[in-house]
Amino acid sequence: MSRPAIAQINLDHLRYNYRLLKRRAGSSKIMAVVKANAYGHEQYLVAPTLFEEGCRNFGVTDASEGSELRAIIGESETAAITLLSGLFDMDDAELCIDHNLTPVITESHQIKLLTSVGFSGEIWLKFDSGMNRLGAENPAALFALARQTGVNICGFMSHLACADEVEHPMNLAQANSFLEICNHLAPETPKSLLNSAGLISLPDYTFEVVRPGIALYGAEPVADQAMGLKPVMTLTGEVMQRRDIQPGDAVSYGASFTAEQPMSIAVIGMGYADGIPRSLSNKGAVFIRGRKYPVIGRVCMDYTMVDISNSEVQAGDKVEFWGEHISANDVATLIDTISYTLFTGIGERVRRVRAC
Ligand SMILES: Cc1ncc(COP(=O)(O)O)c(C=O)c1O
Repeated sequence: MSRPAIAQINLDHLRYNYRLLKRRAGSSKIMAVVKANAYGHEQYLVAPTLFEEGCRNFGVTDASEGSELRAIIGESETAAITLLSGLFDMDDAELCIDHNLTPVITESHQIKLLTSVGFSGEIWLKFDSGMNRLGAENPAALFALARQTGVNICGFMSHLACADEVEHPMNLAQANSFLEICNHLAPETPKSLLNSAGLISLPDYTFEVVRPGIALYGAEPVADQAMGLKPVMTLTGEVMQRRDIQPGDAVSYGASFTAEQPMSIAVIGMGYADGIPRSLSNKGAVFIRGRKYPVIGRVCMDYTMVDISNSEVQAGDKVEFWGEHISANDVATLIDTISYTLFTGIGERVRRVRAC
């Protein structure tokens, strides 16, 4: 039997979240953001499920992820696969032709790469509207070049910096700036601005396409305005050993935890190489047999220890790190990060298993 380090992926919850987001999106299409192996949730499980739900727009990072996804969902049906980070070289441009991929373009040299290999498909143009991350610096010049070369512009895109802070003035400022650019260039071209949190903070700006990622996986994008999403991933390990320790005994590397009274500890067979953040050392909790137990000592590469004093916890018991009973957002908040890093940080050696 293999080591029980498992990310259970609840596809019913994925369907539920997708339907909920569709209702929020209204007449706008959903581009399901499934980059980085569906935020660590396993593309082979996630993409076909969304496809069955009727999703025909997917967002990945690059041509390599796009080619993989095309192989998963098949060539026969029309589904757009958008490369949110665009393309990097000639090989990528060729992959765009071979696998019918739609790159997001931010620089003129990317258009030249496409035309040099004879690409005649669709592209998005991405403009910066205030985040100062990826986006064309000179939208008019990029638009003019794209039109000259005859590639098909399927839409204009931008991305919000502060969507998870509903009242943040940047949200409306970016929306207005994006609209101004689009209206100046070609008002009739389809537009896309919103990620998951944007659906809450700027519901009037859904335009033609919205691009939710994290909400599909069930993590609430805005802390105090829950949409009622369901967690898709439950990350579980197993108790390998139950041990009793005495006052003065230390636990794990660095002896950062010392018992003050007789206590029982459980050694769980998952650690930071599986994606359990080392910053959970002496912080946070896991869920076993219906209740939470605190992490003690440092999280190791393969093991995590918890205090199970006065409990019936035994070797072989299932342990949840986050999911059904402990929200990934709560774990993330505790260690000053976001659920995205927890999901995408899960090690390759953790098996992703369909839970229903
Ligand atoms: C361009 C773009 N659109 C949409 C998304 C999805 O964002 P979220 O997961 O916050 O919904 C991302 C995520 O990083 C992104 O980079």
